[in-house]
Amino acid sequence: MCGIFAYQWHKPATPILEHGLQRLEYRGYDSAWLAVFTDQWQALLVRAVGKVSELSKKIEWQKSITDLTVYTSGIAHTRRATHGGVTEENTHPHHDTDHHFYVVHNGIIENQRKLKDELESEWYVFYGQTDTEVIPALLAKYWTGDLYQTVQKVLPLLHGAYALLIKSSYCPDEIIGVKRGSPLLFALHPETQEFFFSSDAQALAGYASQIIYLDDGELLHLKNKEYTITSEKWIIQRNPTTLDVWAMEASKWDYEHFMLKEIFEQSAIMRRILMGRVDFAHKTLMAEAFHGMHDEAYERIVLVGCGTSYNAALVWAYWIEHLTGISAKAEIASEYLNKLIPTDVKTLHIFLSQSGETADSIEVLKYIKERWWKTFGIVNVVWSTIAQLTDHGLFMRAGYEIGVASTKAFLGQLTCLFLLTLWLGKRRSMALSTYNALLEELQHIPNKIDQILQTFDLSQEQDTIRTHISSHIQSASTMFYLWRGREYPIACEWSLKMKEISYIHSEAYPAGELKHGPLALIQSTTPSCLITLDDEFFSQNISSLAEVQARKGTIIAIANDQLPQAEYTIVIPRTHSLLAPFLVTIAMQLLSYQTAYSLGREIDKPRNLAKSVTVK
Ligand code: G6P
Repeated sequence: MCGIFAYQWHKPATPILEHGLQRLEYRGYDSAWLAVFTDQWQALLVRAVGKVSELSKKIEWQKSITDLTVYTSGIAHTRRATHGGVTEENTHPHHDTDHHFYVVHNGIIENQRKLKDELESEWYVFYGQTDTEVIPALLAKYWTGDLYQTVQKVLPLLHGAYALLIKSSYCPDEIIGVKRGSPLLFALHPETQEFFFSSDAQALAGYASQIIYLDDGELLHLKNKEYTITSEKWIIQRNPTTLDVWAMEASKWDYEHFMLKEIFEQSAIMRRILMGRVDFAHKTLMAEAFHGMHDEAYERIVLVGCGTSYNAALVWAYWIEHLTGISAKAEIASEYLNKLIPTDVKTLHIFLSQSGETADSIEVLKYIKERWWKTFGIVNVVWSTIAQLTDHGLFMRAGYEIGVASTKAFLGQLTCLFLLTLWLGKRRSMALSTYNALLEELQHIPNKIDQILQTFDLSQEQDTIRTHISSHIQSASTMFYLWRGREYPIACEWSLKMKEISYIHSEAYPAGELKHGPLALIQSTTPSCLITLDDEFFSQNISSLAEVQARKGTIIAIANDQLPQAEYTIVIPRTHSLLAPFLVTIAMQLLSYQTAYSLGREIDKPRNLAKSVTVK
């Protein structure tokens, strides 16, 4: 989603802002912009539709006609259109008619139509279609001669979720940041007296050493070199914490894409997640890690998430019902409030989110918290809104995930969820022998992941995934992922991954249901991936395979041995059937990646998608 980056004093601001925007690119956007200011409020604006690289071209051109080194502060933004098309006019910052106020905004002002109507009835003329433009107009209308006071007058008029940065020509040495529902943080480098705002800590790596994570409803006012934080007009004390992203993971190393790097990190991440939480030698789980799982007798668990996080929730719902006897249901966050979900104080709500900033999930979380029901978070980003709002939680420890299509965070979620299953299972109906067998096998999963990864080599022409399967799939316009029983969530995740990065339409479908409709679509150009492991579904799966082939469809089997009946097989190591999702996931990530690669897609930043969707 949109990204904000701002810099205050005293180095040339343009390259710092440009670099900040490059690091925010992974969040997803369709236009980029920056404005830089001299000490005397001379402003220079550069806007571009498209990528930050387009903006960089325009900056290069500016350099040839202007001395950019005199601009020592600035604000920058990547925009993802919600209100108003993708045009230069709609890029931020937005300003009032007289250019006294500049505003950068993430989020949505929900009452913008009403506010615009009121202002228009007073003859105010808007130049674009964005909701943001209403904010500088209101600042101009209510200007008191003091920026802080004026902002405090305007904020109560705005409804919705937002993060704002405000600068004014009346006070060039001031900047105000406001957080209400969208991410915003403030950072500083005390030795050099440089200050920053950003939507994301990783954009600050190497620039700032200290950071303040603003809470919802907080306003930070930076005036020259002093800053104050207020909440509901009360000044609050907040000490900065050390920014631990100096040598951060925002590098692709030698990989061509972040997504591939992230796929290859997964065995190490799984070992990291297990470390300190499981004692394999004594077959025990460390109690502190699960503090807050509320061992009280709740009767139901509802898991809430979006996209890949929702698919992880589906996997867990199956594990938990099978292994603990607790009733569990996965819910898509954006649908939660549209349904009448039976819930009460005996229901534990678990929120799954990589970013911890997904607006749909946060809305549900707030609804649950208002009723004082118990919440638990499984989140990757430590300082995120969901991490802060949930009563307790487990951090994923997956590290920064840059690729828009989630890979290592999914595996991180599965690992955390599996540990929770064992923890709860031991306290409920799980047999000790099952517990011991699962824990024993869990220990071997990272090595088995490595085995699958070793079969994938971009430089190896004979790699089956690379050369044969993906080239077959890339000419398809639609494909199926066929599943039975517990394999459903993994088929959904596989199908999602393929759609996200290759843009090939795909559907996860129960194999036994094919004959009731979808068989009509099967022909030589419709590949089907079939999960055909050595388990109780094997013979039924072979029948489905024959059913597809009889219609000239091609089968790509995920199996534990080469499957002679299938056109193609991706072989994965054997494991306990309940742990198979960990291994099938890796194979499907590689296949989706390779297909997108062969098609020349923009893998890390797929079209129309954002890493962190902070609007509803
Ligand atoms: C976006 C991303 C997906 C992600 C989903 C949920 O749609 O493109 O990859 O799965 O948000 O994100 P979260 O951060 O809540 O896990």
